[in-house]
Amino acid sequence: MCGIFGYIGRRSDAAGLVVEGLKNLEYRGYDSWGTAWKTEKGISVRKDIGKISSVKSADFTDETSIAIAHTRWATHGGVTKQNAHPHLSCDENIAVVHNGIVENYDALRNELKAKGHRFLSQTDTEIIPHLIEEEMKSTKDFAAAVRSACQRLKGRFGILAMHAASQTLVAARAGSPLIVGVQKGKTKTSPVEGYYIASDIPAFLEHTRTVQYLDDGEMVVTDGKSILFSDIVSGRERPKREVEISWSMEQAVKGQYEHFMLKEIMDQKESVARAVNQDEEQIKTLAKAIREAQGTFIVGCGTAGKACMAAEYFFSVIAQHHVNFAPASEFKLHHHFLKPESLLIVVSQSGETADVLEAMHIAKSKGAKVLAVVNVEGSTISREADYTLRINAGPERAVASTKALTGQLAVFLLIAYALAGKLQDGKTLLLETAAEINDMLNPRYVERIRSLAENIKTARDVFIIGKSWNYPMALESAIKIQEVSYVHAEGFAGGELKHGPIALIEEGTPCIALVGKDEVMDDIISNTIELKARGAQIIGISPVKHDVFDEWIKVPNAGNAQALVNIIPVQVLAYFLAVTRGKNPDMPRNLAKSVTVK
Ligand code: G6P
Repeated sequence: MCGIFGYIGRRSDAAGLVVEGLKNLEYRGYDSWGTAWKTEKGISVRKDIGKISSVKSADFTDETSIAIAHTRWATHGGVTKQNAHPHLSCDENIAVVHNGIVENYDALRNELKAKGHRFLSQTDTEIIPHLIEEEMKSTKDFAAAVRSACQRLKGRFGILAMHAASQTLVAARAGSPLIVGVQKGKTKTSPVEGYYIASDIPAFLEHTRTVQYLDDGEMVVTDGKSILFSDIVSGRERPKREVEISWSMEQAVKGQYEHFMLKEIMDQKESVARAVNQDEEQIKTLAKAIREAQGTFIVGCGTAGKACMAAEYFFSVIAQHHVNFAPASEFKLHHHFLKPESLLIVVSQSGETADVLEAMHIAKSKGAKVLAVVNVEGSTISREADYTLRINAGPERAVASTKALTGQLAVFLLIAYALAGKLQDGKTLLLETAAEINDMLNPRYVERIRSLAENIKTARDVFIIGKSWNYPMALESAIKIQEVSYVHAEGFAGGELKHGPIALIEEGTPCIALVGKDEVMDDIISNTIELKARGAQIIGISPVKHDVFDEWIKVPNAGNAQALVNIIPVQVLAYFLAVTRGKNPDMPRNLAKSVTVK
């Protein structure tokens, strides 16, 4: 969940370069940061608590061509300068940054302590440079020592390591993503200018779009001119393809917006249409796979999980086809129903979420096929799945997921229509909806929601209700409000109110009703009236006006795509609730964008 970035090559400003690139990974963790670079005198380190965004890369003036950097989301040990990465060996010649968790760190630490190693932090990571140092007593070769050390680590890791006496950068991966960016040279005599190694592509996107992916159990050794991929255990070379990625730097920066969250909400003017732009034959093939599977399960976490839940309704209502939803972290308990003929659909923006990967591995161990709906190109989930559909949302940087959700919903609507033999109808509906979203997100509309946020900013609780596919959207609305504004918010199925939640309603409690012009409209309006009768202030998000609404946020009438348009005003509301309450929506407390630990 931390961000990792390293560079080796012809540039002599490597320390400033990795600090600057690391700022693009701040969404991965933002409690502390650190960097190490190689100089003639040895390894220099700077680290601190706080946000990397406030560090000036121009302050790193040492000439150096090898550097590593890290932004931390604390797991083992509190947020302190000592616990920030990089960590060093006793002789301070080895520096390591690490993403993941070393599960056997306690035993290794005791073993190393008995051999005289001194530890300065409470982290699991710190054992790694010491372990490498210990291994070097017998091999002398740095890369070989990293290899042996990695073989002793249990758990998940992505590491970058450097040595004061070695002109190499070494990286290894077991469960935590690492991607190599290749900077091509301009002449035949120097085909490569340098290598970037990062946990996420945005770290080096401004330098190169040519990448090579490390798989689990692999390591790389590079001197900045060439690179060698090998199996950590056997040492056998692993040949790698170079892949050109489609993301551009413009997509990965805030541009005119103050926060990534607002930028990504506004991106939905185009991203929904991009999600719909799929290869029709592939969609039909996947629909066929779902129809023929003996049991289809659909899993995801957080916001992606809510897309899965909505998909369950899409398949049921549009195609009369049953799929079983479970949060990915609960899937383990359902595996008894998996057969080789079953299908697991996994949904993930990042394509790296640990619980989703585990669900995939369970399904594969039963011989079932896996379809992944992901956003990030080349992510682990997309590479391990049998079939992959990309939602093409472009980089999503804010922790709170927005455009990825609507992309996921669009893809599932498309598949549901294909399953019903009406793919063209689905495509037409979604393209019309995409155009309506474009019109809807105009400055006046956004301002109206901003002033609504201002009105309810002191509310203690916000409740959201929905029915059918608007029920998962009510749950998603609650996530959005909770995670960025820290206002207590809960979503319910409208019909469940009278079974308990209605006891929470007090005079003036803001309650949002997500309404569609559909067969359940009268039911959800009745539920809204029940809330109003208890004193709730009703905010209706609906294509049609009802007397019960105190505030009406108009949305297009999108038929079966209503979930997709109804969630957008709530995203905007959550954003402005955060801002008006003085919170930074891009960096919510305690959360991380990519949850690579279980
Ligand atoms: C984290 C993020 C959420 C996201 C969830 C699943 O909790 O903060 O925004 O929905 O992970 O992430 P994924 O990348 O698998 O969609």
